[in-house]
Amino acid sequence: MNHLLQGAVLLATLAPRAAAQEMLAPPGQVRFESTDYKNVLHWAAPTNSSCLQYHVQYKIYGELDWLNASNCQGIQKHHCDLSGATSDVREWYYARVRGSCVATSSKSAWALSRRFSPRWDTKISPPTVRLNSSKQGVVVQVKASRVLMRKVHNGVDNNIYVVHPSGKEDVYAVASGSRLTLTELKPRTHYCVQAQTVIPRHMKSSDRSAAKCITMD
Ligand SMILES: *[C@@H]1O[C@H](CO)[C@@H](O)[C@H](O)[C@H]1NC(C)=O
Ligand SMILES: *[C@@H]1O[C@H](CO)[C@@H](O)[C@H](O)[C@H]1NC(C)=O
Ligand SMILES: *[C@@H]1O[C@H](CO)[C@@H](O)[C@H](O)[C@H]1NC(C)=O
Repeated sequence: MNHLLQGAVLLATLAPRAAAQEMLAPPGQVRFESTDYKNVLHWAAPTNSSCLQYHVQYKIYGELDWLNASNCQGIQKHHCDLSGATSDVREWYYARVRGSCVATSSKSAWALSRRFSPRWDTKISPPTVRLNSSKQGVVVQVKASRVLMRKVHNGVDNNIYVVHPSGKEDVYAVASGSRLTLTELKPRTHYCVQAQTVIPRHMKSSDRSAAKCITMD
């Protein structure tokens, strides 16, 4: 009974202060969007405030301390590139955002992201394909996105799909940067080529690229 009473008194004295501190609604839909290991945190503005700045923190899953994302303190945009802070693909991360209003010196509560894994949650973008016919045959050149190559250097392979008019496909596994020359294509036949980026050590692959097609002379 006595304890209950004390609790009630404590609540009564704390409540007005807490309300003043957290008058702002927190940001919504805090989430990582990641393509080619470029990991960007996004959020939505709360609907009822006009003077918001945002503050972003992150932490490695399993550790206690939140760290300030130094490039995303007091910002007005609704996204923060956390690629540097979340660059270890083997780790899991959390991030959180809160709004503040300097004019009224008020702050929102923190809004938390879901757990994020660069390795499992990133989406690999499809490569681009170029075809060039030469005397030796049709040369297929495949390029992964520049962002991806900067992040993973080598360790990227490509699957190349050659689609015959019948719908039959030949598949070739080719290391990134090397070319494939198709020498046994039939004359007056229409072929289409697609490619897919594969990162074997992360067991990841992109969707297939758009098709590039060629009709043999
Ligand atoms: C904004 O919304 C929050 C929660 O919905 C509320 O507590 C707060 O008073 C509102 N602030 C303003 C400035 O309307
Ligand atoms: C993060 O920034 C806030 C506000 O600038 C500061 O009070 C806090 O000590 C910082 N935390 C860390 C872990 O650096
Ligand atoms: C096709 O290959 C030839 C010979 O290697 C080269 O000169 C030409 O620029 C290439 N064309 C394209 C579109 O890549």
